Amino acid sequence: MRKTLLLLSAAALLAASACARDPAPADATAQPGATAAADPAEDALSYAEPGKVTTTALALDLALDFDQRTIAGTATYTLDWLDDAATELVLDTRDLTIESVEGEGADGSWQPLQYTLADADSLLGSKLTIEAPERNASIRVAYRTSPEASGLQWLTPAMTEGGKQPFMFSQSQQIHARSWVPLQDTPSVRFTYTAHVTAPADAMVLMSADNDPQAERDGDYSFEMPQPIPSYLLAIAAGDLVFEPISARSGVWAEPAMVSRAAAEFADTEKMIEVTEQLYGPYRWERYDMLVLPPSFPYGGMENPRISFITPTVIVGDKSLVSLIAHELAHSWSGNLVTFSTPKDAWLNEGVTSYVENRIIEELYGKELADMEFVIARNALSAGLEDMPEQARALAIRPDVRVAAGDPLTEVAYDKGAWFLEFLEERFGREAFDPFLRGYFDHFAFQSIPTTTFIAYAQEHLLDKHPGKVTREELEEWIYGTTIPDSAPEIVSAPLQAVDDARAAWLADGTLPPRSATDAWSTQEWLHFLDGMPQTLTQEQMAALDAAYEFTGTRNGEVAMRWYPLAVRSGYDVVNDDMAAFMQRVGRRKLIMPIYHALVQAPEGLAFAKDVFAKARPGYHPITTGSVEAAIAAAEGVEIPQVAQ
Ligand code: BES
Ligand code: ZN
Repeated sequence: MRKTLLLLSAAALLAASACARDPAPADATAQPGATAAADPAEDALSYAEPGKVTTTALALDLALDFDQRTIAGTATYTLDWLDDAATELVLDTRDLTIESVEGEGADGSWQPLQYTLADADSLLGSKLTIEAPERNASIRVAYRTSPEASGLQWLTPAMTEGGKQPFMFSQSQQIHARSWVPLQDTPSVRFTYTAHVTAPADAMVLMSADNDPQAERDGDYSFEMPQPIPSYLLAIAAGDLVFEPISARSGVWAEPAMVSRAAAEFADTEKMIEVTEQLYGPYRWERYDMLVLPPSFPYGGMENPRISFITPTVIVGDKSLVSLIAHELAHSWSGNLVTFSTPKDAWLNEGVTSYVENRIIEELYGKELADMEFVIARNALSAGLEDMPEQARALAIRPDVRVAAGDPLTEVAYDKGAWFLEFLEERFGREAFDPFLRGYFDHFAFQSIPTTTFIAYAQEHLLDKHPGKVTREELEEWIYGTTIPDSAPEIVSAPLQAVDDARAAWLADGTLPPRSATDAWSTQEWLHFLDGMPQTLTQEQMAALDAAYEFTGTRNGEVAMRWYPLAVRSGYDVVNDDMAAFMQRVGRRKLIMPIYHALVQAPEGLAFAKDVFAKARPGYHPITTGSVEAAIAAAEGVEIPQVAQ
């Protein structure tokens, strides 16, 4: 019975998490009355029982096989048996073949252990239960991955920039690490790791560990990650990768054709590290490198420790989209250093990070740009809230409320979370709030915590320390409430107001803003110009905009993700060829899902979407494929089993 309830709540949770920053479909609401895990710190997305036994260190010995599209090898866990009565180690797996399980005896010899691999659950994968009556200090699992592993993408040479060598990369967040390593796949467990990896000699292998910029490319690599990390930060990539430094501790890994452009685009990274250190204390991970992935990467960025994985779609030549780097870097404090203990507390990672990101942008590029980005995000939040179920509009669920959590990955976690911190900053002043946040990162460094721990810490170190500024009720309204509190600070951006005026004038009588104004517009102003357009425009209006600004065929994905859906809704099919090319070239969900969602609203668009998807699919990452399939199935009224996003 308990297991059924657990799965039910997990189903609701994942059903809602259609994709990061993509609003949840309206029907994907948490079921009122569905029971969440009783303990707020319990992770409904993992079978592991970390209260009984916990992994403190992981040693991987892996071989990458590009022909078979598999990883095979062993994972060895150093274990801390916390519960005196525990004799079982429960691991998460998905689509893994388990070859053997052994435990190390007191005499140092390895003996086989009994184990059971349960039938697969479509959301959680297969529970691996290992019998360890001797409570071995080390257990070793030999396994191989499936070519369809949800956390890996294997690319043919044709799908890379250089076109000569194959490429592979992992994306473990949220629950895909289990598809390439059997482990306790919950962020409440932190472990250090080492890895020995073999690959074809011409492939460079990188991991979320101590990559050596001077490493010899010989097909045999060793890694060490001495800081304890949660499983979703385990990462690997391999391909024709070269390094270009930005500073002594930072640089870019990319395919040779891309690396210099990337290093130029991200040239401010060292400055970003320095301003974040000044605000929030030392960078504790030694190197900070970035790996530019092929355009099929399903996200914008992933904060894998020491080496953020980055979409090439932010390399536009003018540094206008580098807030993504500020974001992934900020996770080195909020997320990687202080981590949510369950994905239900996503705002602790993404909200705090979005706030820190904005502070970095302000320090480096000024308040005007920071405010523009804030307003753009706040408008996306308002739009997102409209089609979101009530429950999903809260940052977190009260510990005593027995309903499943809503979508952890909408604008709520990011932008309402950041807005909440802006509110605290405004009330307490930076002179009090900055040291508070710095103290929070220090106090909980290398720990995983739930929202309730954040609240208790804020109560003691902010509310009680500076009485009369913010009440407990206000704090809880921000966290547990389902609206934007009236106490929300109003941020206005004069340049964006000018854009509003320009748009309104054009909509009223067709007068476009003067060239002298638009020539000076930043990317953010253009995005805001498009964001504020009505749902549909006339053909003439679309054609006029296109003639003036050449939106169709844009190389800027942020423009494309706004222009093409508007074109679809307006029936402006002039864009179709360029739009289809964009959908085939790019796999980043945030950029292409709005187009698919717009297309599937009408039968003709649905047919077009299916046609493009059929061609694009071989190049898409499994996560993107899952999202597109779900959008098409929803439009066709077909029920498909929930899979992890
Ligand atoms: N950690 C997230 C990506 C993520 C979240 C992957 C949840 C899987 C599940 C990353 O830091 C992120 O937020 N990326 C954003 C970019 C950012 C600038 C908002 C993205 O990919 O769009
Ligand atoms: Zn993030």
